[in-house]
Amino acid sequence: MQAGAAPRLRGALIGCGFFAVNQMHGWADLPDVEIVALCDRDPARLAQFGEQFGVTARYQDAERMLATERLDFVDIATTPPSHRALVELAARHGVAIICQKPIAPTLEDARAMVQAAEDASVLFMVHENFRWQTPILAVKQAIQAGRIGTPFWGRVSFRSGYDVYAAQPYLATGARFIIEDLGIHSLDVARFLLGDALAITARTRRVNPAITGEDVATMLLDHVGGVTSVVDCSYATPQEHEPFPETFVEIDGENGILRLGRDYRLTISGRDGTVIEDVSPPLLPWASRPWHNIQESVFNIQRHWVEALRAGGEPDTSGRDNLQTFALVQAAYLSAERGRTVRLDTL
Ligand SMILES: NC(=O)c1ccc[n+]([C@@H]2O[C@H](COP(=O)([O-])OP(=O)(O)OC[C@H]3O[C@@H](n4cnc5c(N)ncnc54)[C@H](O)[C@@H]3O)[C@@H](O)[C@H]2O)c1
Repeated sequence: MQAGAAPRLRGALIGCGFFAVNQMHGWADLPDVEIVALCDRDPARLAQFGEQFGVTARYQDAERMLATERLDFVDIATTPPSHRALVELAARHGVAIICQKPIAPTLEDARAMVQAAEDASVLFMVHENFRWQTPILAVKQAIQAGRIGTPFWGRVSFRSGYDVYAAQPYLATGARFIIEDLGIHSLDVARFLLGDALAITARTRRVNPAITGEDVATMLLDHVGGVTSVVDCSYATPQEHEPFPETFVEIDGENGILRLGRDYRLTISGRDGTVIEDVSPPLLPWASRPWHNIQESVFNIQRHWVEALRAGGEPDTSGRDNLQTFALVQAAYLSAERGRTVRLDTL
């Protein structure tokens, strides 16, 4: 450490599963952070993960870890049923919190978690990383720079035939699937690019007979300011050139249009003609295709967390911000079930 430099932030990771590997690689790339302890209730998983990342303080019980270790933050990478109890536990210990998406199983849980963090005056961020993808950031920058004028319509689309169930078998067995797991990211990107939404109309469908939840969803959002968008997602759409995990974006503005398409090509047609830009994410040394786009966004959101924690400022995807995205998820299921538009202020 350089003289005068702030000490490294001491973090602990809870949930040493499939996706947490990316988070650990991301932390290793941030010189400001040391992951000093790991927790997983599965001892085999804990041991293997500890060996892989060289962390010797290992716990099967988060309560014991928080009582023993001196921590600046916890990074919760477990599946949703455990999120509320773990967030409330960390809040009781006065430790800042990152929690994976979806924030919780229900809106009631999610609101209680945000309240618990606020009552304890600890920073709380949801690991909502898709808006941190380099191509999505490029779209945002183009809008902010006024390159297409004020947007009035948008589409955020994710259609794939990728076998997500192989690495995440629990996705095939939950009563809910694509909106809660993947559509949640697309809805957040729609909010990020076009502003908060007031109402949603959704239709869902299960095409794959081997799974329990819906694998196709089509949603219409009414945003503040009269902007409309379509958010559509499918894991029942095999294609010759599989685009997983690319998100495609179309936005029409008053002075031009933009299209984020295949292979991270961003086409902007405005008053100055048409420009095509390559907005591919970099391939980080530990990343692998085709996941590298998501993997880089993990690093980006974690870097943002360090900046927020150091400055004491609210992260962009704070728990409170994420309530808006999560409310859209809940409203989408309600809309699909009832066959009508759901206003968010009625939830
Ligand atoms: N942001 C993204 O791009 C992205 C991508 C994939 C998964 N995810 C999210 O990450 C989370 C984890 O998903 P996964 O596929 O890695 O799951 P996983 O089942 O592979 O891993 C979860 C781990 O948490 C452990 N665990 C569960 N409850 C625990 C508790 N109370 N205390 C300690 N350990 C506990 C399990 O033993 C397991 O090892 C989910 O919320 C998922 O939606 C996010």
